[in-house]
Amino acid sequence: MEFVAVTDRGLEDILLMEAENLELAPRRVPGGIAFTGDWHTCMKANLNLRTAVRVLVKAGSIFATKKREFFNKISRLWDDSWPVPGSFSATSEACKIYHTGILTQQAKKAIGSEEGGPKMVIRGFKNTFDIYLDTSGDPLYKRGFGKLRVPGALAENFAAALLLAAGYTGDEPLLDPFCGGGTILMEAALIASGTPPGFRRSFAFESWPEPSGMDFSGLRTGYTPRTPPHPIIGLDREEEAVATATVAQSELGIPGIQVYGGDACSIRIAGLPRHGLVASNMPYDRLTRGEQRIYSCFGERLRDRLRGWRVALIVPDDRVRMKLLRQKFTQRLKVSNHGIPVVMAIGSGTGN
Ligand SMILES: C[S@@+](CC[C@H](N)C(=O)[O-])C[C@H]1O[C@@H](n2cnc3c(N)ncnc32)[C@H](O)[C@@H]1O
Repeated sequence: MEFVAVTDRGLEDILLMEAENLELAPRRVPGGIAFTGDWHTCMKANLNLRTAVRVLVKAGSIFATKKREFFNKISRLWDDSWPVPGSFSATSEACKIYHTGILTQQAKKAIGSEEGGPKMVIRGFKNTFDIYLDTSGDPLYKRGFGKLRVPGALAENFAAALLLAAGYTGDEPLLDPFCGGGTILMEAALIASGTPPGFRRSFAFESWPEPSGMDFSGLRTGYTPRTPPHPIIGLDREEEAVATATVAQSELGIPGIQVYGGDACSIRIAGLPRHGLVASNMPYDRLTRGEQRIYSCFGERLRDRLRGWRVALIVPDDRVRMKLLRQKFTQRLKVSNHGIPVVMAIGSGTGN
C-alpha cells in the first residue's frame, strides 16, 4: 500500500528526516512524504511521526476525463475492505474534470457517506485521480493530553519541529522562558523520554474493516521509555499559563518538567544549569514598546545569564525584532504559524 504523510509548509524536510530515522524509506512529495508498507507501517507512522499532521492511505488511482467515467471507476474501486467516507475534498490540476465540486459529488454518489467516517482526499493531475483516505482521524498534533490551551499556543507538530531542527535529543537541559501552556516542554519530555507522540490516542484506521482485527500492541508498547536525564524548565510571567502548563505536565505524566512563574527578562531560577537548549515560541503581538523591550532585554539575557546555551526561537520574520535580539543564527527555517509568517531561528549561542 502507498501512504502519504502530510505536514505544514516548511516542515517537510524535518518530517523526511524523522521518517528516514523510522526506516520508512520515504521520498519527498508536495506537502509531505510518501512511503509504502502495510497496516503496521501505517500504525508506526501515525504513532511516531512528531511533525506530521495526518497520514493518508492511497485506495487507488483512476484515469477519467468524463464525470460518468469517474463515477463508474470509483464505484468499482470501492469494495468492502474500505470504510464509507464521512467527508470529501478534491483538487484538480490540468484535468478535463476541473470542477472539484463535481468530483466530490460523484464520489459521494458512488460510495455514499456515513457520519464519523474518514475523510476522502481526491487529488487529480492530468486526468489521473489519486484517491486517499485519512487514516489518522483527529490531526496528529492532537496528542490526547494537554487539551487546555493558552492564547497563541503552538501546535505540537511545530514545537516538535523546532526541537528536532535544533538537534534536541534530551541529552541536555532545556529551557523555555516563554512557555505559555507548555507545548514545547511536553514535546521535549516526549523526545527526551523516547515516548511516541501518539501513545495516548487512537487513529481512525484502527476501526476500519481490514485492519480492525489486527494486533498493534507490539508497536504501541515496543519502546523503552527513560526518565529524561536533564531538566526541562518552563517559565512564564502569566499565572494562567503556568497553571495550564502544570496541568499538561501532570496529564503527560513524564517526570523532569519544572514550571515556574517569572519574567524572561530576569530569569531567576535557582540551580539553572550553565548550558543546554533555550527553545521558545516568543510573544508576537503588535510590536509595541512593551514587546520591543521584551526582545531587547531577553536578547541581553541570552548574552549574559544564558551565555553558553544553544538557542532555537520561533519569531516573526522581521528585521526589527531580529535586531533587538542581537543573536547570531546559523539556521533559519521559514514557516507559517496560524497564518503568521515566522522563522525557526537556530543558533549555537553567543558564549560558544
Ligand atoms: C506565544 S506565547 C507561547 C505559547 C506556548 N509556546 C504554547 O504553546 O502554549 C508567549 C508567552 O510568553 C509569555 N510572556 C510574555 N512576556 C513574557 C516575559 N517577559 N516573561 C515571561 N513570559 C512572558 C506570555 O504570557 C505567553 O504565555
